[in-house]
Amino acid sequence: MMNRTIPDGPRSAAASVTDNVELCRGHFGLTVELPSPWRVRPGQFLMVRVSDGPDPLSLDPLLRRPFGVADVAGGALGGGLVTGTRIEIIYRVVGRGTAIMSRLRPGDVIDVLGPLGNGFPPVEPGRRLVMVAGGIGIPPFKLLARTTGGTLLFGARTGREAALAEQLRAIGGCTVRTATEDGSVGHKGLVTDLLAEEVSAESVVYACGPAAMLRAVARLCAGRGVECHVSLESSMACGMGVCLGCAVRAAQKDHAGAFRPLMVCCDGPVFESSLIDWEAL
Ligand SMILES: Cc1cc2nc3c(=O)[nH]c(=O)nc-3n(C[C@H](O)[C@H](O)[C@H](O)COP(=O)(O)OP(=O)(O)OC[C@H]3O[C@@H](n4cnc5c(N)ncnc54)[C@H](O)[C@@H]3O)c2cc1C
Ligand code: FES
Repeated sequence: MMNRTIPDGPRSAAASVTDNVELCRGHFGLTVELPSPWRVRPGQFLMVRVSDGPDPLSLDPLLRRPFGVADVAGGALGGGLVTGTRIEIIYRVVGRGTAIMSRLRPGDVIDVLGPLGNGFPPVEPGRRLVMVAGGIGIPPFKLLARTTGGTLLFGARTGREAALAEQLRAIGGCTVRTATEDGSVGHKGLVTDLLAEEVSAESVVYACGPAAMLRAVARLCAGRGVECHVSLESSMACGMGVCLGCAVRAAQKDHAGAFRPLMVCCDGPVFESSLIDWEAL
């Protein structure tokens, strides 16, 4: 079943930057202070408006950029949600928007819209959570690990990105295993090698990362009969179900007998893996 529950309606807010540090080459941790608290479910995301100049209300670049909520620092836990005003984003610099973000300094003000999307479903009692992150797929698992614990399997091409997994190693109740393709840190090979060792009948698998990794994780879990939820990325303009720009193809017909596209921003970004047409992704 698709999880459509949105714990708190999205709001736009002027957020004050408190920290923006480089965690490893090309990857930053940005922390902002909101004027009023958000209630966030792990796996939800926010949209950041960045402006290339002194005017924080400038519309250049026009589109907000989506980022997972990596943490709600000092947030109060309750019912699988975290409430707080200090939101952390972990991001990789890939283009104009993230390059502008990397130049933000404490005291700068940015416009954020959130919390958006459904987030990961709560882990049922008696189930063992296995989180699978590929590269910059790691951010949502920081908050999830803090609320739920579990095992994080982190995969990267080289050891350069392994510092991202260190963020989670310090969290009590979370075990971290790393795989790198060049073998410079942890297991030499793919993160799915570790997943094949870790999953068992009582596991539930949550995954976030590149499409090829998600496809492999979904296939492995389907083959073992293990429940699997994936957090997808898609190009987003509005983040709220209006522009239809983030559609992905569904694997199953809806109740009206049609293959209705799934909107990553509001039907997801987290989907039960059997709902996705993996060949089309
Ligand atoms: C739900 C969701 C959560 C995400 N969480 C994170 C995160 O925690 N950390 C992180 O580093 N990145 C995350 N991303 C990807 C991030 O949004 C893009 O890397 C970022 O928008 C690129 O912006 P840019 O201006 O630097 O790049 P450009 O390539 O210049 O962007 C051009 C346009 O494409 C869009 N775009 C480009 N790449 C992506 C992408 N992969 N996904 C969605 N839109 C894209 C941008 O929003 C922008 O409108 C997430 C994406 C989604 C959909
Ligand atoms: S981003 Fe506009 S509908 Fe999803």
